[in-house]
Amino acid sequence: MSELERIGVSLDKDLLAQFDKLITKQGYRIRSEAIRDLVRKHLSEEQLENPDAKAVAAVVLVYDHHSTKLSDSLIELQHSHTHTPSVQVISSLHVHLDEHDCLEIIILRGQAGQIRKIGDTILSMKGVKLGKINIVAT
Ligand code: NI
Repeated sequence: MSELERIGVSLDKDLLAQFDKLITKQGYRIRSEAIRDLVRKHLSEEQLENPDAKAVAAVVLVYDHHSTKLSDSLIELQHSHTHTPSVQVISSLHVHLDEHDCLEIIILRGQAGQIRKIGDTILSMKGVKLGKINIVAT
């Protein structure tokens, strides 16, 4: 960890009260930790505006496994991105939710722009019921 620097921040009383209420609800015990996380989140979001930024992502999707074409396409896509330079599938998790639905989490690492492209390709496949790309800069 780099050297710590203490800063003073002036805030409107009402704004501070709302902030304290929110971070308490989120489980923070001290303001400093909540503020550090906010700054990191903001910096990460700013980095992600660059399509070449290094990032990792979890693509979460729910689909009906009776769409066999979709299962095949998902497997095909993951196998074709194991060693590609701009983005790689590094892991996946499959959970059989019930007799129809499956939950799959696909972990991608690479350039932010390429990750989003693959994530969008996955989520727009026919048969995907719900999905989300959770991406963070590394
Ligand atoms: Ni399944």
